[in-house]
Amino acid sequence: MRAPMVAANWKMNGSRAICREFVEHFDVDGSVDVVFFPPFLYTSMLMEGFVSRSISVGVQDVCHVNSGAYTGEIGAEMAVDSGATYSLVGHSERRSLFGETDGLIAEKFTTCQQAGLTPVLCVGESREERLDGRAESVVAKQIGSILRTAGIKAFANAVIAYEPVWAIGTGETASPAQAQSMHAFIRAVLAKSDATTARNTRVLYGGSVKASNASELFAERDIDGGLVGGASLEFKEFTKICRAASH
Ligand code: 13P
Repeated sequence: MRAPMVAANWKMNGSRAICREFVEHFDVDGSVDVVFFPPFLYTSMLMEGFVSRSISVGVQDVCHVNSGAYTGEIGAEMAVDSGATYSLVGHSERRSLFGETDGLIAEKFTTCQQAGLTPVLCVGESREERLDGRAESVVAKQIGSILRTAGIKAFANAVIAYEPVWAIGTGETASPAQAQSMHAFIRAVLAKSDATTARNTRVLYGGSVKASNASELFAERDIDGGLVGGASLEFKEFTKICRAASH
């Protein structure tokens, strides 16, 4: 059985005041795993605030190596040392704005696992790729690059987030049927290497998830929860989304 998960990707947003609001008031039952990905500077405030609750905190990115002369970067081992348990890897904004290639993303994925961080691998096609009928091949290539480097067994300790680029921050959500179809495809890609891993790996949907569409998305068979951007900074909205994922 795959436990539902809802993850909050704050991107480069948030403040101490917003952290305080979540620390003081956030409350969802334990049947859904909740992970916050705030900017690095706010990770300790959330970790300390959530210490007695089963809420996890992760980082939005790590460097491909653990230490050294890499000004501005943060290593996976440091993230673990600070108490983080997850890292996003390969978010579409890292791919498109910061030029991250499948190769670099695969290195980061492995670095995270070696340090003890669970990677949340983000995959997804652009609008143009979908219109050209290439959505599945793009996603298969993104996952294939990790399979080649890390192997199928690495997915036993990883989460996948399907985030169609055209749905991120646009207010245009993939329909439950569109999302379900891609999630089933992702599972089929994994199943070619190992059926058990394919069955057990959590696959989250991301892209304009809101309280008003969360329940119907999470009701789909292969959708195990969500990776939420904008709505995750709104306390009431995010609480409703988490409740929509709980059993
Ligand atoms: P939005 O929920 O703002 O569309 O962002 C999705 C996302 O990129 C989460 O990683």
